[in-house]
Amino acid sequence: MSAISVTHLGKSFGAVRAVDDLSFTVERGTLTAFLGPNGAGKTTTLRMILGLVTPTDGTAVIGGTAYRDLERPVSTVGAVLEATAFHPGLSARTHLEALRIAAGLEAGRVAHVLEQVDLTGAADRRTKGFSLGMRQRLALASAMLGDPEILILDEPANGLDPAGMRWLRGFLQACVHRGRTVLVSTHVLAEIGQIADQAIIIGGGRLAWQGPLTSRTDLEELYLEVTR
Ligand SMILES: Nc1ncnc2c1ncn2[C@@H]1O[C@H](COP(=O)(O)OP(=O)(O)O)[C@@H](O)[C@H]1O
Ligand SMILES: [Mg+2]
Repeated sequence: MSAISVTHLGKSFGAVRAVDDLSFTVERGTLTAFLGPNGAGKTTTLRMILGLVTPTDGTAVIGGTAYRDLERPVSTVGAVLEATAFHPGLSARTHLEALRIAAGLEAGRVAHVLEQVDLTGAADRRTKGFSLGMRQRLALASAMLGDPEILILDEPANGLDPAGMRWLRGFLQACVHRGRTVLVSTHVLAEIGQIADQAIIIGGGRLAWQGPLTSRTDLEELYLEVTR
């Protein structure tokens, strides 16, 4: 069974057809780049997979189950949807601790995820002093708290400098090496394309291209061709 299956998915916001007849699958243990220009429907699709937006048509399931019917959602799928706002006066550790308790997870998880995202040294600083890259990593740490099988990230590369980009690539590769499944939307083609197993490219809410990536794929060329 695929980690994620989207079948004839559609969403209208009034007269705007944000997503239209979109179908794709994401297999376990793979990294999928979800690509498309601004307004293509990426965020709406990810929100439908996560049960945050109700589809107008079709279905989106995680391991065959709708998100709202998952028995253990936090250990099944972790998501970072946009640069999350944190309470500026709380430290990274306190922020994560509150989430951990709310989710009923074991005490050791906070230190573990702080280590995973390289924030151990900054864990007790207030988040108001955090750089954008540190905020992105704290959001990732929140998503990793339940040690989820699947990670869904919406534009995690936004605003990262080259060092942050390299870090993100390594982090995502390590997740996949540990058997996790990653679905990541991005418009930073080269950076994520280098490490993705497959690409799904959408335009105007519809599938433009889907297929495996190899070291020979010129993703930029392909993207420009199919989104023209
Ligand atoms: N809540 C909403 N209400 C109305 N229109 C929306 C809403 N969310 C998204 N849209 C529209 O749906 C289209 C797809 O948006 P989005 O999924 O955010 O694309 P992307 O993430 O690829 O940039 C855009 O035209 C956007 O303006
Ligand atoms: Mg978006």
